[in-house]
Amino acid sequence: MRAFIELSGEHPTLPRAEALAALASERVEVRTASFDNQVLRIDAVGPVERAVHRLGLAHLVSEELVSGDFDAIRAFAQESDLHGRTFRVRSRGLGIDLDPLALEGPLGADFGRTGEVDLDQPAVDYRLLVGEEFFLGRVIHRVDRARLEATKVAHRSFSLPISLHPKFARALVNLAQVPMAGTVLDPFCGTGGVLLEAAAIGLRPIGLDRDRRMVVGCRSSLREARAEDRLGMADAGQLPLRAGSVHGIATDPPYGRAASTRGESIKSLYRRAFRAVRDLMPSGAHVAIVLPNEAMIDLSSEPLELIETHALRVHRSLVRHFCVFVSS
Ligand SMILES: C[S@@+](CC[C@H](N)C(=O)[O-])C[C@H]1O[C@@H](n2cnc3c(N)ncnc32)[C@H](O)[C@@H]1O
Repeated sequence: MRAFIELSGEHPTLPRAEALAALASERVEVRTASFDNQVLRIDAVGPVERAVHRLGLAHLVSEELVSGDFDAIRAFAQESDLHGRTFRVRSRGLGIDLDPLALEGPLGADFGRTGEVDLDQPAVDYRLLVGEEFFLGRVIHRVDRARLEATKVAHRSFSLPISLHPKFARALVNLAQVPMAGTVLDPFCGTGGVLLEAAAIGLRPIGLDRDRRMVVGCRSSLREARAEDRLGMADAGQLPLRAGSVHGIATDPPYGRAASTRGESIKSLYRRAFRAVRDLMPSGAHVAIVLPNEAMIDLSSEPLELIETHALRVHRSLVRHFCVFVSS
């Protein structure tokens, strides 16, 4: 299948990394991929639709039907037979300020010879992207950004300002490349933001935290979301789990003054925790961690092998580095 994914512009590299990781999690073989203007275009074999349902940092995903100049797109539309089904055409300029009506009008007329326009709930939702080339696709997934906003920590029953925004928690989970129905562990689960996103995309979450208050609050949030609540109170340096029982890790450990480490330096905590992670994880498993600075990335790279990092500036004194490691 050829497809194009319209990524969100929230970060220059993280949305693309999330999309490629989600595809890899579902064992989709990406034969070619190109990226321009926040659009990832792929030629891939496997369950693309299932994989893109996981995404947080994207807007629309379309199966690509035809590309070329506008004449090629119109020829495709004129040859299509919608057998009376309803459709709509929506266009978007990539780096150009497009007059949508100039393109949607003629294309709508072409498809309208065999179909009927429905702007609200069409059976076929066409998407036209216009950059150096024209791409016409059929929308196969629309990321529910409103839901990702609605589950922001401030709207949950147990809430503390330590939680990542759900869309970034979702991206972190995807970077862990856990296959469908696999188990993902957050050893610093806090209020459960990462676990909620793991559950939302069909993974089995396990959460641990040293603070009992977090475990209790996190359990109520997971129950509220009707998600599995396999939680425990534990120190991240001594993980009470059987080796190999987890497929991937996604976690946002404490990174400084605001989060409590009970007086332990984060250097010491990270060293203990990531050794425990290495001992738990099967070789080749992905470990996605948000780290506060380069020094902590270097330290974490001792027990684990670093494969990618994406720095996200939150405010002047806080940069979150979304890092992906593999266990050896
Ligand atoms: C940045 S918060 C996690 C935020 C989380 N992603 C959320 O959605 O709320 C870090 C968490 O690590 C926990 N923590 C600190 N030291 C720990 C340790 N040694 N073992 C396990 N958890 C620890 C804290 O209690 C806190 O809940």
